[in-house]
Amino acid sequence: EKQIGTQMEQRKGRRLVLFPLPLQGHINPMLQLAGILHSKGFSITIIHTNFNSPNPSHYPNFTFHSIPDGLSETEASASDLVLLLKLLNAKCVDPFSDCLVKLLSDASEDLISCLISDAIFYFTRAVADTLKLPRIVLRTGGVSSFVVFAAFPLLRDRGYLPIQDSQLEKRVEELPPLKVKDLPVVNTDDPEAFYEIVAGLVNETKASSGVIWNSYEDLEQSALVTLRQEFPIPIFPIGSFHKYSSASSSSSLLTQDQSSISWLDNQAPKSVIYASFGSIAALNEAEFLEIAWGLANSKQPFLWVVRPGLVRGSEWLEPLPSGFLETLNGRGHIIKWAPQQDVLAHPALGAFWTHNGWNSTLESICEGVPMICMPCFGDQKVNSKYVSHVWKVGLQLESGVKREAIEKTIRRLMVEKEGEEIRDRISELKEKANLCLQQGGTSRESLDSLVTHISKLES
Ligand code: UDX
Repeated sequence: EKQIGTQMEQRKGRRLVLFPLPLQGHINPMLQLAGILHSKGFSITIIHTNFNSPNPSHYPNFTFHSIPDGLSETEASASDLVLLLKLLNAKCVDPFSDCLVKLLSDASEDLISCLISDAIFYFTRAVADTLKLPRIVLRTGGVSSFVVFAAFPLLRDRGYLPIQDSQLEKRVEELPPLKVKDLPVVNTDDPEAFYEIVAGLVNETKASSGVIWNSYEDLEQSALVTLRQEFPIPIFPIGSFHKYSSASSSSSLLTQDQSSISWLDNQAPKSVIYASFGSIAALNEAEFLEIAWGLANSKQPFLWVVRPGLVRGSEWLEPLPSGFLETLNGRGHIIKWAPQQDVLAHPALGAFWTHNGWNSTLESICEGVPMICMPCFGDQKVNSKYVSHVWKVGLQLESGVKREAIEKTIRRLMVEKEGEEIRDRISELKEKANLCLQQGGTSRESLDSLVTHISKLES
């Protein structure tokens, strides 16, 4: 006890500067990590862009510094993710360095031990090097998809990338069980920029003083083995971050509609399908309507997040036929944004129809909720393949977004024997996730080594 107390005292006064990428799926894990490290005795400073700024008033224990990202309104709302990431990595260089220089020269503040940057903000490597500040990265996605990103040069050499439509069903022999259609690509007007971002992500992670993962040893063991062979830097799989504390929703950029929970309270145990496709994915109107009819025809109760902007060209629910919800007699509830972690933990939940963003995937596993997988782009495709074919805790929605296929997949998962087996497997995975987080579990041990590692870094 006493010794731990002394260690905490010594560490007090050690400050960490965290720099999240301003997208919901990246802000959440970075702020959760901040909470975890704060509980270990570090003081926390967050540098963030004006664009998608977190709300500092939710975090009285942290210090926030906002930097101008220089994005115009059109740039900030552009649908081309690659373009946005490229702009952020170019436009943040000067404001970020200026902010860091100021923080480093502020004698009234604690000494800074290191920078913890989102891995996609790869420009931070050069800045940290210039300032001789150690840099650790947080990779917010899974390890398995990262290993695929790291293989991009090889995949390009061997002709798997760029993807050709005629090759979609071809196996990627070097990365079983992936097929070409599972490779983590993103639709963009500028494919070369996409490859540059992936190269920046991979190379500047390799050049870091360590990498933190929101994942756990038992889940991604084989990818971690590969990673440790290819990346001779300290690797800390300390996930799942959101299970360290219950203060989960404070970093939400949209207001979470609490009516979801009271609606769920009135549903039978394990009966509800929760459908949500994260913060970025977009659908066309035809897909949206197939989803609506698929859910309606499934005869199961459903809670559906339709984020404003989810349907291209629509504000919100306009494409739905009039009276659609009324005909369901309360069997369906549509909201703009959910308190997702509470929803997944609710006893009424039966399945999660997801785009397999990494946070959603991990949150579903940690609550033992089986998945229906509909990946849209990037790492989601790899995550989805692992969910359905490696961990076998979900079913892929095959043959496109069609109401008959949706109905059939929901039935397989909710009614048939196959679904029961899937449910059993995800319960086991949930157990393992919990064990990792207990005293002596791999995630806890990895967190302790991270704390020791940070404390030894020379700045
Ligand atoms: C993006 C990418 O799409 C994803 O592939 C990558 O792994 C991370 O960045 P996003 O689309 O936002 O993520 O999905 P996801 O990773 O699942 O993160 C969404 C977060 O928002 C989750 O933490 C989830 O709990 C939260 N959320 C989602 C809500 O709070 N309410 C909702 O209604 C939906």
